[in-house]
Amino acid sequence: MEYTQSIKAIRASILDIAQVVDKPEEIEEQVRFIEDGLMLVDNGHIEWVGPWEEGKDKIPASVRIRSYPGKIVMPGFVDTHIHYPQAEMVGAYGEQLLEWLNNYTFPTEARYKDKDYSREMSKFFVKQLLRNGTTTALVFGTVHPESVDALFEEAESINMRMIAGKVMMDRNAPDYLLDTAETSYTETKALIEKWHKRGRLLYAITPRFAPTSTPEQLDMAGRLKQEYPDTYLHTHLCENKNEIAWVKELYPEQDGYLDVYHHHGLTGDKSVFAHCIHLEDKEWDCLKETDSAVAFCPTSNLYLGSGLFKLQEAWKRKVKVGMGTDIGAGTTFNMLQTLNEAYKVMQLQQHRLSAFEAFYLATLGGAKSLSLDHQIGNFDIGKEADFVIVDPCSTPLQQLRYDSSKDLSEKIFMLMTLGDDRCIYRTYVDGRLVYERG
Ligand code: GUN
Ligand code: ZN
Repeated sequence: MEYTQSIKAIRASILDIAQVVDKPEEIEEQVRFIEDGLMLVDNGHIEWVGPWEEGKDKIPASVRIRSYPGKIVMPGFVDTHIHYPQAEMVGAYGEQLLEWLNNYTFPTEARYKDKDYSREMSKFFVKQLLRNGTTTALVFGTVHPESVDALFEEAESINMRMIAGKVMMDRNAPDYLLDTAETSYTETKALIEKWHKRGRLLYAITPRFAPTSTPEQLDMAGRLKQEYPDTYLHTHLCENKNEIAWVKELYPEQDGYLDVYHHHGLTGDKSVFAHCIHLEDKEWDCLKETDSAVAFCPTSNLYLGSGLFKLQEAWKRKVKVGMGTDIGAGTTFNMLQTLNEAYKVMQLQQHRLSAFEAFYLATLGGAKSLSLDHQIGNFDIGKEADFVIVDPCSTPLQQLRYDSSKDLSEKIFMLMTLGDDRCIYRTYVDGRLVYERG
């Protein structure tokens, strides 16, 4: 092993999930926990992980040991669905999806035409991700290319793994937010050429949702996907019953909501559909057959009264799922709080979401749903060094419950039930410290 100054030695408890699984019952046997662990990071990659006693002699004398007693090193959280321009409108009162978009969302998104404003809010957004331990996100910009430039510039400044895209939207929104089929194609193409695979950045073709795109625009999205097959496709699907009825009116020739996307070539192993609450059988089948993924966004789904995502059905059908905060319909950037709400959503459906299942969805499962499980999501040697130092006892109540927890599963469950941004003690991206709790 060649040591450079970029090497870091982290001593703490270490927790991750060894492998992608097909069933929730398989997760527990994939849990890796080292009570007194050492992680060596070199040049932004995981170099070695194991028990402190086995690894301590590998640490070069010149390297400072970063010791975090009582803390747990975890893979950085993966947020598979979030809107950065909506940070400023979290908690908009009283509406369901379609009214909420018209009354709150569209007027807010208009501001992002201004590059300086987009820059300011991109900085705020990335800071919020980091203070919540999220190190990779799949992000909606606005219709303005400037919004995406600003976000990618900010992510690039810390070499963060981020996927984002410009909204494509050519109808059923205020004029000031519309592009056209043609401009959405040329602007998206230019952004792909500029950003896709630049460093750790990746591009997502982002039609907002079927009601705000003409068939001509979805054709353009499909054409882009054909021209750049390894880009992502990121949109919304079957979130709200009125929305679904509207899609059926707008696209009577298609066989349901998902068929609108499928017909235009927008399903596939790099397609991520947010929400998917009210899917028909044939739509579950199509997600599975095309290896498309779902972003489960519990705080948003509860907040907008959209419904309960059937996670158990996704497992049964082997459809990939990751967690999404869906800021600003979602009410927190924090993945622990998001898991807390996911647990309650599943309680209402007689499914007991275990701590390890939740932790899997927020890390390796999320990475898998973004086809990034070979780069991030756990601490396999050679993977990218994005991780969080978690403080499981950041409040007196957490300490009390931690002390009375019998085993690791109870400790992690307590963390997701009582935890929030106060539990995020340090965040590392690309092997570098990017956030320290104040
Ligand atoms: N469907 C279309 N646009 C949006 C959005 O901005 N947020 C949510 N939650 N759903 C959408
Ligand atoms: Zn959304």
